[in-house]
Amino acid sequence: MFFQYIWFMRKKKNFNEIVELEISSLAFQGAGLARLGNFVYFVKHALPGDKVIAQVLRKKKSYAEAIVQKILVPSPFRVEPRCEYFGTCGGCTFQNLDYLKQLEWKRQQVEDNFQRIGNFIDFKVDDPIGSKENFHYRNKMDFSFSNSRWIMPQELSEIELKKPKDFALGLHYPKRYDKVIDIDYCYLQQAEANQILQYFREIARKYEVSAWSEKEHKGFLRSLIIRHSFTEKKFMLILITNELSSKEEKEFIEKVKSEVQKNFPNVALLLQVINSTNNPVRIEEQRLLFGNSTISENILGINYQISPFSFFQTNSQELNRFISKIIDFANPDQEQVVWDLYCGTGTITLPLSKKVKKIYGFELSEDAIFDAKKNAALNGIDNAIFVQEDLHKKNIVEKLRDYEIPSTITIDPPRAGMHKSLIELILQVAAKRLVYVSCNPSSQARDCELLSEKYRLKKVLPFDMFPHTYHIEAIAEMELID
Ligand SMILES: C[S@@+](CC[C@H](N)C(=O)[O-])C[C@H]1O[C@@H](n2cnc3c(N)ncnc32)[C@H](O)[C@@H]1O
Repeated sequence: MFFQYIWFMRKKKNFNEIVELEISSLAFQGAGLARLGNFVYFVKHALPGDKVIAQVLRKKKSYAEAIVQKILVPSPFRVEPRCEYFGTCGGCTFQNLDYLKQLEWKRQQVEDNFQRIGNFIDFKVDDPIGSKENFHYRNKMDFSFSNSRWIMPQELSEIELKKPKDFALGLHYPKRYDKVIDIDYCYLQQAEANQILQYFREIARKYEVSAWSEKEHKGFLRSLIIRHSFTEKKFMLILITNELSSKEEKEFIEKVKSEVQKNFPNVALLLQVINSTNNPVRIEEQRLLFGNSTISENILGINYQISPFSFFQTNSQELNRFISKIIDFANPDQEQVVWDLYCGTGTITLPLSKKVKKIYGFELSEDAIFDAKKNAALNGIDNAIFVQEDLHKKNIVEKLRDYEIPSTITIDPPRAGMHKSLIELILQVAAKRLVYVSCNPSSQARDCELLSEKYRLKKVLPFDMFPHTYHIEAIAEMELID
């Protein structure tokens, strides 16, 4: 692990500073936190209870960022990580921390944010709901092809490398867009998805088709997106390539098309997407190699059609329980009119529509609104009205004033939280209840403080949709002060 950082650390000041630290807790984004007097250290790869020798990477007036060089006394909460790439790949932060401790830390994070940023002094956050499955829970993984493989620390002692240096299919080394870690098995996705990943690696190498070079902007294979429906137990594969230019590439595509269909009956569709530009997210052409154009997922009795590039929550196994909790917090009845702000494709709106008189979903993305309307129609729902709207516009107060006044507002904003103009609107509307869902407790706490001008914070429930990462969702309930 230490070697991975040498190139980086050489450029930094304080390279030689070594400190012995006792880690007391975890800080934002999962670094271990230690104090020496008033000075704070954020130590990468350290856990609460560890006694470590750490190497300083960056030093400021009141704090430093460091990385573990040696563990002198391991934390009692350490567990053996399952994944051989843990510590190199940035996908998981806490595979080495006992899951109950992960939950405890996430609860503490949310509470600290509400107390310190939101000024809800002494406010206690509920015990979090944990994921039933800690592994294999993601329904979407985006793997990159690269002609520049990241050499793993354990390979440094190999006289001859077992894997080629100029081919990789996996995940980018953190902050290195030119380097990809060749991943044989990712524990966050389904076991069968790993067989698919392995198949694509082998066939690409067999046909000697080139992998994308981020430096030279050339190469045939760019990325492989694997999506999974837990309801249907089916996969959607999206293979992103450069335009076909050689005989081998054409043969490769034909072979993949026939072999995937034959060997992986659970693959519902294989789509080839052409992108020959330098922009990694550009879609120039879509070629359906076989199958339907969507997969579907059922959440609380609502059927969602998921097209290749439409958004869907990444942990569909927990989505029933998560959305049920949000609905419980909304305390719905058949008289209620609800506004669902930042409704996306309607994951909250559509199940909630079954329990209320009418619900309005507001959302910026035209594609998401299109999917939400399509899913409403597919499920025969006619009391959910979807409106494309930029909720951060300055004149949002005038824009939404004419809609039926809601008694409940559900809010699920992006990480940055709400704009002041929207908060002003919510304060003017004065719905009886607010249910604020967020994956960023600091912006959530800040917004809840602004809303507390008219609302009382009743309850905050963290929900862990992303085990082994530092991410956490939290549902906050606020009620209008009479
Ligand atoms: C956390 S997601 C909410 C997802 C939604 N609850 C769902 O399940 O599909 C945040 C949503 O906010 C939308 N968004 C971002 N900026 C916005 C804005 N200025 N106005 C309205 N919606 C916005 C994004 O497009 C995204 O769908």
